[in-house]
Amino acid sequence: MTKSYLVETFGCQMNVHESEKISGSLSNLGYIPVQRREDADIIVFNTCCIRDTAEKKIYGNIGDLKNYKKLKKDLIVAIVGCMSQQAGAIETLKSQFPFIDIILGTTNAHLVGEKVNEIINSRDKRKLKYYENVEPNNDIAENDVTLRTSYPNGWVNIMYGCNNHCTYCIVPYVRGPEKSRAPQLIMDETQNLLKDGYKEITFLGQNVNSYSSEGWNFAKLLDTVAKLPYRFRLRFLTSHPRDLSDEILDVIAKNEKICKSIHLPVQAGSDDVLAKMNRHYTRNYYLSLVEKIREKLPTCVLTTDVMVGFPGETDENFEETINLIQRVKFSNAFTFVYSPRTGTVASRMVQISPQVKKDRITRLISVQNEIVKDISQTSLNKTYEVLVEGVNQKGLLYGRAENGRLITFPGDTNLVGEFIDVKIDKCRVSSLGGHIENRDA
Ligand code: 5AD
Ligand code: SF4
Repeated sequence: MTKSYLVETFGCQMNVHESEKISGSLSNLGYIPVQRREDADIIVFNTCCIRDTAEKKIYGNIGDLKNYKKLKKDLIVAIVGCMSQQAGAIETLKSQFPFIDIILGTTNAHLVGEKVNEIINSRDKRKLKYYENVEPNNDIAENDVTLRTSYPNGWVNIMYGCNNHCTYCIVPYVRGPEKSRAPQLIMDETQNLLKDGYKEITFLGQNVNSYSSEGWNFAKLLDTVAKLPYRFRLRFLTSHPRDLSDEILDVIAKNEKICKSIHLPVQAGSDDVLAKMNRHYTRNYYLSLVEKIREKLPTCVLTTDVMVGFPGETDENFEETINLIQRVKFSNAFTFVYSPRTGTVASRMVQISPQVKKDRITRLISVQNEIVKDISQTSLNKTYEVLVEGVNQKGLLYGRAENGRLITFPGDTNLVGEFIDVKIDKCRVSSLGGHIENRDA
């Protein structure tokens, strides 16, 4: 009988796309995707370890799987990705959750289909186990089969890993050094997606601005792809402020297909903290960059990641972060409480108290929410071109404007994958509501 599988994704956008590759490795071998744990013969968790909260949540979820395993004794449980890639993680997972059948890291996550096959075809399914998180290296597995689940959005990795070593961040340890994919491979993948009717391409990488391969830099890659003769939008994630060059900004300005929307993690607003974080820029540098972006790209929407409670952050340092947030007025900010990650430099610094962290995050969130509310109000009665992505639980269509804002509105499901003009009539903190305008125009 055909076996079914479920891949659950924890963490970032990069992981959403990696789960598409993991699903591809299973579908390619004839396994069938399902939506619920109770229907699955194989459950794969694609994990994240960037913050303590992410990891705790995954541990809780792995614990829950024990019950499913009791109900279905041949259930295969696979834990793959960032969390299993950490030093010592295999031993911890094995001892806490002996029912796990497969553990793979980031570099070899795509092998999950093969390993599942071996277990299913083995004589004693419950004895065969695979635990291996190979060191992240410079190899890029290029012949992955991808089961795309995000139509009309096509995710394309342009690089893997990171060379930055921000002192709080575990990514370089679990994903290894930066490695860029060959431009031709990126072009081919993008062109195939566009031929298949995908309408939004998002280039993915930890630090896309430092893309470099075969003499191509990120500006050249963006410029070349933006000239492909299809109707589509081009986005990219994530930018490091230090590497966002004038050349890149000029390419964004002159290409209509490149979205005027940049995610530019600031992390902190004080020079002291930025230096301890090893971010390689100052508060003034960041603020001047924002000014330059707004000059060159007047309609550009800026979003950010920002953290409170980094070791040694004083009240004064924190106020500088609040002040920066109030000055820049980001359209959206992902706000985090710093949590120490084993092996990172900052985890060995003197930590600040949980109560102080809690007070600071509460204040930061409330300041940012006010800003978002004000920005949302300015959208009222405006019309945006929305790429329709799907139907939500309330039966409304949802999609994004070029600026990245989520917009919901009533309409026919066959509009998924279309560009539609929507006039905003409701403002909420995380999304806008509207109605279709000039449908036939
Ligand atoms: N603690 C809290 N937040 C973190 N981030 C990265 N590492 C940590 C950590 N140890 C945040 C950063 C990054 C985002 C993806 O996660 O803000 O930009
Ligand atoms: Fe982590 Fe810094 Fe690299 Fe981003 S740029 S992945 S925060 S080390």
